Amino acid sequence: QAADSLYIINNFAQKFFADKLFNSDEGQSVALSYLEERGFRDDIIKKFQLGYNPQEKNALVKEALGQQFNIDVLVKSGLVVNRYEEPVDNYRGRIIFPIHNNSGKIIGFGARVIGKADRAPKYINTPENEIYVKSKILYGSYFARHAIDKNDECLLVEGYTDVISLYQAGIENVVASGGTSLTIDQLKLIKKYTNNLTIIYDGDAAGVKAALRGLDMALEESLNVKLVLIPDKEDPDSYVNKVGADQFREFIKGNKKDFILFQLEVMLREAGNDVSKKNDVVNHVAETLSKINRAEDFTKQQEYIRQCSSILKIDELGLTNLVNKYKRDQL
Ligand code: GTP
Ligand code: MN
Ligand code: MN
Ligand code: MN
Ligand code: MN
Repeated sequence: QAADSLYIINNFAQKFFADKLFNSDEGQSVALSYLEERGFRDDIIKKFQLGYNPQEKNALVKEALGQQFNIDVLVKSGLVVNRYEEPVDNYRGRIIFPIHNNSGKIIGFGARVIGKADRAPKYINTPENEIYVKSKILYGSYFARHAIDKNDECLLVEGYTDVISLYQAGIENVVASGGTSLTIDQLKLIKKYTNNLTIIYDGDAAGVKAALRGLDMALEESLNVKLVLIPDKEDPDSYVNKVGADQFREFIKGNKKDFILFQLEVMLREAGNDVSKKNDVVNHVAETLSKINRAEDFTKQQEYIRQCSSILKIDELGLTNLVNKYKRDQL
């Protein structure tokens, strides 16, 4: 019931925002021109149903109340906030990115400031409500699901614009975590379509860290995880715009790293020659390998134990025993 009215209001708002983007002077000159400058084509802007919320403090509020929408639902949807007892548009002056569920219904929005994000925060999102549950959202999954199925692979990026730019470049099997670290529910959603997850994050320290945090969970879900790090200060959106679709594909193909081996490399580099740190690395790797679902992936676990013990220059049987110990600790 409450959910239904939220879907209806979101649907109404999306149409309002899209109309403002394409058919108002302000939308065209401020927002559409910005999107076009960034290289987004009109057909893609329409496909992803992007929009614009005018600067005026209550453009949406007026229209919605005029059509008998309920103010409490408007507030719950996050589209409207009460400022000093007066309802005003929450996403004033922002570009609107609708977020769809897997049947294409709009469950919420991301709203971006236009231009350089000196006005904080860069993005505002729908608050948690009956239909917008942040931990279960994979932005773009509605558009990506057939391509994920067909390629038997899901690409995971950080942001809305990364999804849209890759889709425009013909890389359609892509979803975004929305900047938050991966959740188990998001991994379960991916697992419905494929066992193969390729995480494409910024190459900066934050990107690597965010990626590594999801690793143990992904292994527990029996996903095969690969990692691609995008070079120097770029993200997938800026990089594909810089080098073009073909070169971007080549880059992804040539730079997929096995996630477990990548983690091992990073930790070993940090440990250097310190014996006790290296011992921590061995333990951490053993713990990671113990997360591999042995009923489903016994051979995979064996193979990783072989490769990791060789990289660590330690005895394979010793590592096997340590992995088993961690496995027992989990039971
Ligand atoms: P563009 O700058 O438009 O290309 O967006 P981006 O996706 O590159 O942004 P960024 O890499 O900074 O962040 C990645 C994702 O994190 C975004 O797509 C948002 O989902 C989320 N995010 C970024 N900044 C904010 C913020 O200020 N608040 C919230 N709630 N989310 C944010
Ligand atoms: Mn980053
Ligand atoms: Mn870990
Ligand atoms: Mn980014
Ligand atoms: Mn970006």
